[in-house]
Amino acid sequence: MTVHFTLNGEPTRIDAPPATRLADALRDRLRLTGTKIGCNAGDCGACTVLLDGKQVAACLTPLGQVEGRAVITVEGLSREGWLHRLQLAFQNHGAAQCGICTPGMLMAAVDLLARDANPSRDAIEAAIGGVLCRCTGYQKIVEAIAAAAGGHVEPAPRPEVGAAVGARAPKVDGLAKVTGREAFGADRVPDGALWLRVVRSPHASAAFELGDVQAFARRAGLVRVLTWRDIPGRNGFGIYPDIKDQPVLAENRVRYRGEAVLALVGERAAVEAIGDADPPISWILDDPLLDPKAAEREDAPLLHSDRPGNVLARGRAARGDVEKALATSAHVVEGRFTTRFVEHAYIEPEAGWAVRKGGRIEVTVTTQTPYMDKEEVAGVLGLPLEAVRIIPTACGGGFGGKLDQSVQPLVAVAAWLLDRPVACVYTRPESIAATTKRHPSEIALRLGCDAEGNLTACDFSGVFNTGAYASWGPTVAGRVPVHATGPYRVPHLRNLSRAIFTNLAPAGAFRGFGVPQSAIANEALMDELAAKAGLDPLEFRLKNALRPGDVTATGQVLGASVGLVACLRALEPHWKKAKAATSRVGRKRRGVGLACMWYGIGNTALSNPSTMRVGLSPAGRLTLYSGAVDIGQGSNTILRQIAADALGVALDRIELVAGDTDLTEDAGKTSASRQTFVSGKATQLAGENLRANILRLANAGPDAVIDWTRLEVEEKGRRAKLDLWRFAPDAQGDVLSGVGRFDPPTTPLDADGQGTAYATYAFAAQMAEVEVDMDLGTTKVLRIVAAHDVGRAVNPTQVEGQIQGGIAQGLGLALMEEWWPGKADNLHDYLIPTVGDMPAIETILIESPEPLGPYGAKGVGEPGLVPTAPAILAAIREATGARIREVPMLPHRLRAAILEAEGSS
Ligand code: FES
Ligand code: FES
Repeated sequence: MTVHFTLNGEPTRIDAPPATRLADALRDRLRLTGTKIGCNAGDCGACTVLLDGKQVAACLTPLGQVEGRAVITVEGLSREGWLHRLQLAFQNHGAAQCGICTPGMLMAAVDLLARDANPSRDAIEAAIGGVLCRCTGYQKIVEAIAAAAGGHVEPAPRPEVGAAVGARAPKVDGLAKVTGREAFGADRVPDGALWLRVVRSPHASAAFELGDVQAFARRAGLVRVLTWRDIPGRNGFGIYPDIKDQPVLAENRVRYRGEAVLALVGERAAVEAIGDADPPISWILDDPLLDPKAAEREDAPLLHSDRPGNVLARGRAARGDVEKALATSAHVVEGRFTTRFVEHAYIEPEAGWAVRKGGRIEVTVTTQTPYMDKEEVAGVLGLPLEAVRIIPTACGGGFGGKLDQSVQPLVAVAAWLLDRPVACVYTRPESIAATTKRHPSEIALRLGCDAEGNLTACDFSGVFNTGAYASWGPTVAGRVPVHATGPYRVPHLRNLSRAIFTNLAPAGAFRGFGVPQSAIANEALMDELAAKAGLDPLEFRLKNALRPGDVTATGQVLGASVGLVACLRALEPHWKKAKAATSRVGRKRRGVGLACMWYGIGNTALSNPSTMRVGLSPAGRLTLYSGAVDIGQGSNTILRQIAADALGVALDRIELVAGDTDLTEDAGKTSASRQTFVSGKATQLAGENLRANILRLANAGPDAVIDWTRLEVEEKGRRAKLDLWRFAPDAQGDVLSGVGRFDPPTTPLDADGQGTAYATYAFAAQMAEVEVDMDLGTTKVLRIVAAHDVGRAVNPTQVEGQIQGGIAQGLGLALMEEWWPGKADNLHDYLIPTVGDMPAIETILIESPEPLGPYGAKGVGEPGLVPTAPAILAAIREATGARIREVPMLPHRLRAAILEAEGSS
């Protein structure tokens, strides 16, 4: 059937079945990939377009319904180079982080402003309520829409030369995001690529036998069906060099529901036509181990024969004599806490493709870690490292979930064997079922203090359900004991952790590496201890807060950049005012709570270097070659700001080549809040190195000025022209370059976990105000005030955005997010905060400069999330009197806790 309609003002026709999804027609037929697909089920709103001026989900709109009508996509918003005022406002306000939701948000906002030129906040929330954003916490989106509603929007001013660091510079890649030009993992699949679809285990624990899969392939019209026997190299991947325990394709046994068993490769229509149960697989089911307690029993079968007791990893930090200290403490509190699986729910599912080029393989993929991908793909293909090139696409959210392998080894193997481009895009249910999660935890904690309220001891034991494969489990087990005392002085401690294998999806990295879970326990007992000591929760924290020169749980003496006291002082007036407004009478009660956090920046007691390079072409083009991947947090912008000031050049003079492993140096993973601190410092050093090289060439001293426009060096009235054309250019066309490398100074931890765990720490305190419906057990978070010590805010807009986005995820952790296999493998059963769930957020930036950091900066990616859940839970406790030991605090749990509290009062 031929469907005629108007698309972005142009008459358009598409020959396709009328039931074709409009989103597919736009993306696949017309190559208008600004319309994104996050779920294909009407849940996420990423595909929002205008149909006759009204927002619709293009994934739910059959093409036949647009006959004779007008469709506008994000590509139709800007005309002849002029941006729509909403696009400019999004850019100015930092409303696009990863940008995958941005086209949908913009279209919903266009619909709103056409109906309501002066919308209220409620109207804005209603208009964008169907579009999910996992990055921003929505605040900057709402502010941008409100600003655009006010009329004309001017582009943000450029920072002055030498003042890029500290400026609210718009994202350097923001225009691509607000115009829909940004290419994510599924957006530029090469023409003619074969499609790969994974057949996954429907069982949590089973042995299996394969029938004649190649006969099946022939019958089904596939090009090939891959099994584990087709893996050319090592059929295993994993984060640690000595733990490659997760098979690319399972070998005779599956250990979790969702594990990859076969890869079907063929034309897209052929692979998509195959039912999950069609391939010839015979299953022999076992009783799965779903709970660490069951997995740790002596008679429990082992998931991995080399892991006695199903223990993946243990962690420990110990100082002093905990038992004696608790026995002699004036006050002791204790509790057991439970947290659940949490899904990353980035709006962009895993996607990418591979192309074989002779003896090399190129993988283009959405990822947080191109250099780790390179090692894993090389290992799986049995190739030397230099035979693998990883080209990161824009990343539509990661939060730790794209630090593991997903499509990379699969498309690489298929493209390598078939010598044809092969692409794979996970469906939303597949993305949720198969990929890593936040570790569920069971935490037992005792805390003590003396009669004056000084903490005396911390006895922490955390069991983390690490699922079927190692992933980042050892990292969680290692990081938690360092942080489990909270950001407080505690002389006696015994912080223990262990990560236990079960037949569940692998638990891996998720914003905080176990610290958010431990903070929930620690901060709850801090409040209980404060009450026993007769102190206000804020005063109690102030009394015990880490300060410069204090000793941490690992015996590390803290340096100068410890801004926790300043964070608490910044909260103090808000706290006092909010406390006065709390109410513990009636059906709807108000409460206020607070929580603190600290977070070690970078890997725990491990080398995690970054190398950056800045090149200068003979024509004066400056290029930053960065192996760091921007997953929405803004490193593409922040690193350029740092480079600009290190060189003394205008920000927009610096071009960027990011992520491509053929063109950049290894900057390490985008994880552990490390890119600003580690790669930022490497960038500063690279810029300074290039500057020093130029000055040396001109025989000038360090105070000489470089005129980047004329390529001249001026010193004491003398000007020297740089004759760059006499140098031979390198492969990138540069004739001079500067290189910077930074590896944060840490030391290995000893058997008691003692040593320098991190080079620096971020600190924060947050306050939450809530209203609880005592009859329904529902909680509305009304306001959050967040004070964060970030060292130096290289770009305050981006820093605020990180904090606000972290708060949204912390709110989800506290109140709504709980995943269980098969029960919430989509975005309508697995709930993440919408704009309507988010409170007003006041963000306070504290700058306690870190001497090691670039211009004093530390990091903020994970810290935004850590204190939010404990602060919200504290507020609920205060409002209701209920004891809270389990998250998420779903209404039925809160109602039960309220009834228990009422029964015991
Ligand atoms: S892709 Fe259409 S609503 Fe998610
Ligand atoms: S910016 Fe909204 S999902 Fe990333």
